[in-house]
Amino acid sequence: MRWELPGGAIELVRGDITAQEVDAIVNAANAQLLPGGGVCGAIHRAAGPELAIACAEIGGCPTGQVRVTPGFRLPARYVIHAVGPVYRGTGEEAQLLASCYREALREAAARGLRSVAFPAISTGIYGYPLEEAARVALAAIADFLRRERPGLLVRMVLFGERDFEVHAAALRELRRAGDIT
Ligand code: APR
Repeated sequence: MRWELPGGAIELVRGDITAQEVDAIVNAANAQLLPGGGVCGAIHRAAGPELAIACAEIGGCPTGQVRVTPGFRLPARYVIHAVGPVYRGTGEEAQLLASCYREALREAAARGLRSVAFPAISTGIYGYPLEEAARVALAAIADFLRRERPGLLVRMVLFGERDFEVHAAALRELRRAGDIT
């Protein structure tokens, strides 16, 4: 599923983010930038041990922000580590989640990258409800592309069938609402 937007394109695919042939992949990291489970574990396994060393040198990252390392053994040149919010239902999580997408795209654009792949940040171990997270993520991506015009291909890589279907529905909804031309 792919939509051309002013300033780039949004693509939804099902699959494994570590196999994506893009300039950067985004990691759903923790604030300590330590290897973890989920997509973080998969990325560290695919990138090799140098990734954990590069992350340890950075030391940490606040929630809602990102830090960039090389991709090492990954096809992607960079890993953009984004620390998503743990979902607690406080109402604060949406702007922190949107910030992860916006800051990752800002870093990709600042490096003149042409393509970046995201997992569904916070929707696994961090417990963010999938439907709301999909709406927040896609609105943040579409808004960044429209405003900053970076000419970026933004690919959301969904691991499960339901993850893909929920994101596809959210993208159709955004388009119907006229948020996306
Ligand atoms: N490719 C793409 N998506 C994946 C992959 C993969 N190889 N593996 C898992 N996912 C999906 C999950 O199905 C989920 O939809 O990534 C999404 C994010 O889930 P988590 O990896 O659990 O990340 P998150 O919910 O943000 O929790 C972050 O988990 O692994 C730890 O160190 C990490 O502490 C941090 C926390």
